[in-house]
Amino acid sequence: MQLQLTEFRNIHSAVLQFSPTMNLICGENGSGKTSVLEAVYLLAHGRSFRTTKAHKMIKHQQSQLVLHGKVNWAQQLLSVGMQRDRNGELQLRLNGEKVLRIADIASLLPVQLITPESFRLFFGGPKERRQFFDLGLFHVEPSFYELWVLFNKVLKQRNALLKSKQQYNDSYSFWDQQLADTAIAIQELRQKYIAQLDLILRPLIQPIAALADLELELVPGWICKKGDTAELLVQLQENFQSDLKVGYTQLGPQKADLRIKVGGEYVDEFLSRGQLKVLLFALKVAQSNLIFSSGHKQPLLLIDDLASELDEQSKRFIFSFLHHINSQVFITAIEAAQVLPHVSDTEVGLFHVEHGQIVRTDEHGRRT
Ligand SMILES: Nc1ncnc2c1ncn2[C@@H]1O[C@H](COP(=O)(O)OP(=O)(O)OP(=O)(O)O)[C@@H](O)[C@H]1O
Ligand SMILES: [Mg+2]
Repeated sequence: MQLQLTEFRNIHSAVLQFSPTMNLICGENGSGKTSVLEAVYLLAHGRSFRTTKAHKMIKHQQSQLVLHGKVNWAQQLLSVGMQRDRNGELQLRLNGEKVLRIADIASLLPVQLITPESFRLFFGGPKERRQFFDLGLFHVEPSFYELWVLFNKVLKQRNALLKSKQQYNDSYSFWDQQLADTAIAIQELRQKYIAQLDLILRPLIQPIAALADLELELVPGWICKKGDTAELLVQLQENFQSDLKVGYTQLGPQKADLRIKVGGEYVDEFLSRGQLKVLLFALKVAQSNLIFSSGHKQPLLLIDDLASELDEQSKRFIFSFLHHINSQVFITAIEAAQVLPHVSDTEVGLFHVEHGQIVRTDEHGRRT
């Protein structure tokens, strides 16, 4: 991947030729390392992981930011461009043609992110975990996106009826049936996806005693005995008065969750921070590999501040996962020495950042 950044955060201009395997971006605090990851994420995913206000990413005193990436995809060169103005105007280009929806680009560039905030996967609410597995599913199962859009339309209709305080009528019975049908289809895809993820995850974590009996359990969002549409239909009707009171639908795949347990205990209440970080990496690497194996997509894995909170043993586990990855990896660290000893057999693109200036270096920090 080649990335060109213009007026992005503290970076005035840079053209970066990344290694297809692993890239290590080093520099002092505040130099611009996370900004490089943010630019890759923004281009691939359409939004930042640090702000919802696009103008915050435009360099101070400048009117617009421009990002341009060239990515090898299915033996083709994919060219992606983004320009954002201070007045909110956004322009996207894919292979020179204007595109309107960021989903057109995001569907081609699966990107996964690990930052210190990613612990929300364990400590946050069910939404964090749904976003995690649904993102994977979106890349692995082409029918998921349309199904999800359809489900949300149905849900919106039913919620509008509930909000207007209408008592049970024929409209509800129509939308309930639609909701149950799409819900079951979503649950089936999710279940299949988690089973595939589990298969890839097992060998990764097998050498780690603390994660030996890890369990991933998908909770559908309603009481689901045998994936029976009738079950959800009945429950929607039984729960109707309660839904009417709160003004929205309380059962369905919009409430799904992934229970992550070790030895029968929820990992957020049981594992240490370091152990959780190892598990986080294992889950993200497994997801990346699953996305890679299911199509011609080249996943990108962005890792901000890899070394923090990890002892040498945990770092060894994490680098053993990265050894088996089929993604292009981008790692930030203060010092290259925190990472390089663990990746001596991988071809690493090394970058040094200082006050927004980025140079490619050799392992001794010399400019190349
Ligand atoms: N819109 C902007 N224009 C100019 N500079 C900005 C803008 N937004 C942020 N900055 C500055 O850009 C710098 C780069 O921040 P970044 O978070 O990328 O640093 P970092 O190398 O990841 O640091 P750390 O090691 O502390 O995580 C910071 O000094 C920040 O103050
Ligand atoms: Mg940073």
